[in-house]
Amino acid sequence: MAKKASDSAQLTELLYQALETEIGGIQVYESAVQCAVNEDLRKEFEEYLEQTRNHRRILLQVFESLGLDPETQSPGRQVVAHLGQSLVQAIQLARQSGDPAAAELVAAECVVLAETKDHMNWELIGQVAKSGKGDSANVLMEAYEQVEDQEDEHLYHSKGWTRELWIDALGLPAVLPPPEEVKHVETAIGAARAEQSRDDMLKKKH
Ligand SMILES: [Fe+2]
Repeated sequence: MAKKASDSAQLTELLYQALETEIGGIQVYESAVQCAVNEDLRKEFEEYLEQTRNHRRILLQVFESLGLDPETQSPGRQVVAHLGQSLVQAIQLARQSGDPAAAELVAAECVVLAETKDHMNWELIGQVAKSGKGDSANVLMEAYEQVEDQEDEHLYHSKGWTRELWIDALGLPAVLPPPEEVKHVETAIGAARAEQSRDDMLKKKH
């Protein structure tokens, strides 16, 4: 078992990384929106961009409640910022190549990468909140409850979009919008079921 002081230092580190992930996520979505060829995907990215901006605001409120300085840097936070910038650059690189379908795929993949970290941050924030440990638990729970469903959607739906766009690019029958979207998936098991159901959805379509 780690000591109490180090537990709270690690929670602070998680919160810095979570804030930086949301900041990077905003930039990733701002770039990804410009690459979306599919109209439904563009609307989805625009909606997730707004929600991500709100997640940043919610985290800033958490920082205020816990008396943390949102500008404080840490080595881990700098890594998160570096990864976020790299994802934005990757999307811009793909956009400059002049193949809109390829750029759309890169943008979707970069969203999945960004949302994977985002999703884990909030899962961990939820774990701390549910443990009820320390004064911060209530503050964290309030934030977590506002954000968790959206984080699930951002990850599972983006994954579905990326898979189906790739399948479409390979010249195979794709389900667009993806089953995760149509079935309003918000859990890992729901995402697995949605992916399994894609053959049935294709049969109904044709
Ligand atoms: Fe988020």
